[in-house]
Amino acid sequence: MKKKVLGLLLTAVMSMGLLIGCGPADTGEPTDDGSAAATTTEAKKGDSSGKKVAVAMPTQSSERWINDGSNMKEKLEALGYEVDLQYAEDDVQAQVSQIENMIAAGADCLVIAAVDSSALVNVEAQAKEAGIPIIAYDRLLMDTDAVSYYATFDNKGVGTAIGKYIEEAKDLANTDETYTIEFFMGSPDDNNAVMLYNGLMEVLKPYLDNGTLVCKSGRTSFDDTCILRWSQETAQQNCENYLTGFYSDEKLDICATAFDGFAYGCKAALEGAGYKVGKDWPLITGQDAELMATKNIIAGSQTMSIYKDTRLLADKCVTMVQAVLEGSEPEINDKEQYDNGKLVVPSYLCTPVAVDKDNYKEIIVDGGYYTEEQLAE
Ligand code: BGC
Repeated sequence: MKKKVLGLLLTAVMSMGLLIGCGPADTGEPTDDGSAAATTTEAKKGDSSGKKVAVAMPTQSSERWINDGSNMKEKLEALGYEVDLQYAEDDVQAQVSQIENMIAAGADCLVIAAVDSSALVNVEAQAKEAGIPIIAYDRLLMDTDAVSYYATFDNKGVGTAIGKYIEEAKDLANTDETYTIEFFMGSPDDNNAVMLYNGLMEVLKPYLDNGTLVCKSGRTSFDDTCILRWSQETAQQNCENYLTGFYSDEKLDICATAFDGFAYGCKAALEGAGYKVGKDWPLITGQDAELMATKNIIAGSQTMSIYKDTRLLADKCVTMVQAVLEGSEPEINDKEQYDNGKLVVPSYLCTPVAVDKDNYKEIIVDGGYYTEEQLAE
């Protein structure tokens, strides 16, 4: 398969197209632009200050959740709440026990980013029984009527943005070339993963159908490409298997991955198979714009990521906590997309932004997310 030299034209197309797919959710509400200005805590100390807010996070194995947890703690404490922050290290049963303990310890409100979104039904029912409101953080809580609100990013928009990035970078709509692609999708127990896949395929499926994109493993369905618990090791293993099984005489051009951790796994597999940055290195996508991923983008071993400003998400979530504790109305911009099987959960969707070498300074450094010094370490 011939590889196209994209040159200057591509650079121009890429820099023009980066923000496509990252507009506001179709709500008519004002958008968040990921800039520093958007990160001020809107909430003011209110009547509920002094109450206990318990925050259950999935894992510290990925940097984004460490940031989410510390942002939430800091913002809640600034409003006078007592905060109990716990991480379950991707162990479903550990998270169930943590939440049981939070209820027993007298939490007034629970904020949950689930390890397995459907596994908490019983403990959520216990919370409801005890009159403790629940806010779903980033990941929808499925099959429960105990959840009041959901703060997240536009998860389908994340997939669309990744798809559009690939479409524009390879000029799929106009090219005569064909490109090989493999998919590394998120955890089947996380509703976000399916939504991302749907957004991605909305953009890329026509190119798979018309042969511009060729997936030599044949693994294009969500079921065939999802990776339980977002495991970096499994992504690496899958990539190694694809490279040895299908790419011995032809190069892999695109790793469409749904998470920076998967991009690291693909990077390791590609290095092992002798691919070289600047020579035959594929386009690799990711999600979260972790510090390591952003460094890799600068170094060229990852092409792009999706920047999700966790400070902004925490701000939105904190206003939901205040609302349930004080009986006020938080800002909501989606009342349709997030049906958890029991109810359509009123949600606030923050806007994800595609970042690469060309715009990381403007979005990430100028936005105050990482400093140049951190990125240079
Ligand atoms: C989040 C992503 C994250 C993934 C793995 C998803 O639920 O929305 O931002 O990359 O979990 O941690």
